[in-house]
Amino acid sequence: LEGEEASVIALGDGERFVLLAPAQDHKRVGEGDTGPNTGGMGAYSPTPAVGEADLRVVADKVIGPAVRQLAKEGRPFRGALYAGLMMTAQGPKVIEFNARLGDPETQTILARLESDLLPALHAAAKGDLRGVELAFSEKAAITVVLAAEGYPGKVRTGDPIAGLDQVQEDDDLIVFHAGTALRDGRVVTSGGRVLGVTARGATVEEARERAYRACETIHFAGMHYRRDIAHRALARSGGSK
Ligand code: GLY
Repeated sequence: LEGEEASVIALGDGERFVLLAPAQDHKRVGEGDTGPNTGGMGAYSPTPAVGEADLRVVADKVIGPAVRQLAKEGRPFRGALYAGLMMTAQGPKVIEFNARLGDPETQTILARLESDLLPALHAAAKGDLRGVELAFSEKAAITVVLAAEGYPGKVRTGDPIAGLDQVQEDDDLIVFHAGTALRDGRVVTSGGRVLGVTARGATVEEARERAYRACETIHFAGMHYRRDIAHRALARSGGSK
């Protein structure tokens, strides 16, 4: 399949669904989308790969039919339904479905969510999403994954993480812990994808600059991350890579 990958996640109540804002993940370990696949080295939302019209097509041709068919088969789906898509010239094609949120897509999507998530999750779990609407900010959000040495292969763990206390977290910057552990009062690496630095900004450029500035203050032995997260959005907008 030729095109750009995109992730569209829906919250379903077994019958109805609401869509979360689309995001684009960077699955390959290396810059320029090279090297082996990972769980995701970074993501951003919104993505120009999925415009308003594309999102309606995804709702009508992908999520809607999946939700209806599951209900018809007596397996109504309540929860987060993640469609991994390839946006081709012939429209969106499904690569995979996951019955969960996406990581690191969700960090960027929730950074843009203006509605309260909990009532929406509750409504989905109770089977009645009627009246639930999710509003997303016009702002852009980006997550850069800081990975451990060896990731996505065999990783080294136990490396102390420095600089976390230097990062000024605020409404527009959050460092999510993923593969970390507390050992003797120190935060150390304990998995492949160690931290997810998530930033928000008026534009993807602004969000990106904020995220990478924070990445530069964090350090652990063997740490690596991609420096080109959101490169496709920047190329489209004429920004630098
Ligand atoms: N980031 C890809 C996934 O959550 O499956």
